Amino acid sequence: LFGHVEPAPKDPILGVTEAFLADPSPDKVNVGVGAYRDDNGQPVVLSCVREAERRILGNLNMEYLPMGGSIKMIEESLKLAYGEDSGFIKDKRIAAVQALSDTGACRLFADFQKRFLPDSQIYISTPTWSNHHNIWRDAQVPQKTFTYYHPESRGLDFSGLMNDIKNAPDGSFFLLHACAHNPTGVDPTEEQWREISHQFKVKKHFPFFDMAYQGFASGDPERDAKAIRIFLEDGHQIGCAQSYAKNMGLYGQRAGCLSILCEDEMQAVAVKSQLQQIARPMYSNPPVHGALVVSIILNDPELKGLWLKEVKGMADRIIGMRKALKENLEKLGSPLSWDHITNQIGMFCYSGMTPEQVDRLTNEYHIYMTRNGRISMAGVTTGNVAYLANAIHEVTKP
Ligand code: LMR
Repeated sequence: LFGHVEPAPKDPILGVTEAFLADPSPDKVNVGVGAYRDDNGQPVVLSCVREAERRILGNLNMEYLPMGGSIKMIEESLKLAYGEDSGFIKDKRIAAVQALSDTGACRLFADFQKRFLPDSQIYISTPTWSNHHNIWRDAQVPQKTFTYYHPESRGLDFSGLMNDIKNAPDGSFFLLHACAHNPTGVDPTEEQWREISHQFKVKKHFPFFDMAYQGFASGDPERDAKAIRIFLEDGHQIGCAQSYAKNMGLYGQRAGCLSILCEDEMQAVAVKSQLQQIARPMYSNPPVHGALVVSIILNDPELKGLWLKEVKGMADRIIGMRKALKENLEKLGSPLSWDHITNQIGMFCYSGMTPEQVDRLTNEYHIYMTRNGRISMAGVTTGNVAYLANAIHEVTKP
């Protein structure tokens, strides 16, 4: 019956973790998946999360959440994305549901897009997080790409990006990374976001923001929502996927939120009911634990303050590792420019290494990363940075 089933190709990101785990070498380093580690290379549970869990323990039942998830968690998520005093929240113009982290939020949106705008396409940046392609492919939404990254400068190709926005048919859907672009670590400046928003207005495009890394770009979740706020000020309807995997370290809890800003409350009620309808046959209702943790932390000023400090701590450690990696490469006498390591932001460095160079890192040095040359800076520590720099120097020597 299943004889025709071929093994699926390995996932370009999670497959790297599998290979890392299978390697017995004591020297091995995992800078593949974007998952934060402390300076000893260990996974981190934030103190605010531990405290929220202490409060949950023994106090709450395990009933189903509604199909759309926790109302409290959704309210807090909307404040984080749209602003504490957002008029859109007060006017109930936002249709929002709890989602299975960022992937789940994107997938719900993609399915919604296919169901209600069956002739639409999605414009996706080149490059992007590999799973974006899977998500919209499986939702059967045709994909187009738009220019984003400039390989020579290892920065933003702003004129290419603007041209592609102008040349897309009016009313196109664009998937934008709200901050800390994955994999490039390259974000538009505030001024550039204003120009992008303006052009979107001219072209009546719909921006869907993936905000998986709120807090990891600047260390401040409020500042990292700037791009979204600019689009809101300009009067766009937007969509937004939020995740607490990275900024609360709730990776395996699958805590996230999908929101769509509608024209009025009635439309928001209708859209939310349809999102719930899409969720029901897929997973019925979302998991409760992560949602409780998120709503307890964001609802309590003291715990929220602690969370903000801890997010900044994670972002700062990564910035420190960017400096250390660059300095080590320079100390080794690398003739190449490594300025982009410190110019890029967020969790990733898009190193410019070729797939062949990455293969050498893995085969000769037991260093695991995605073949597009992306280094998860969250996996770099004071203990492995010199080893990593030396290996990069060896494989990139002209
Ligand atoms: C990543 O890009 O490494 C993360 O978003 C993890 C994932 O699910 O791919």
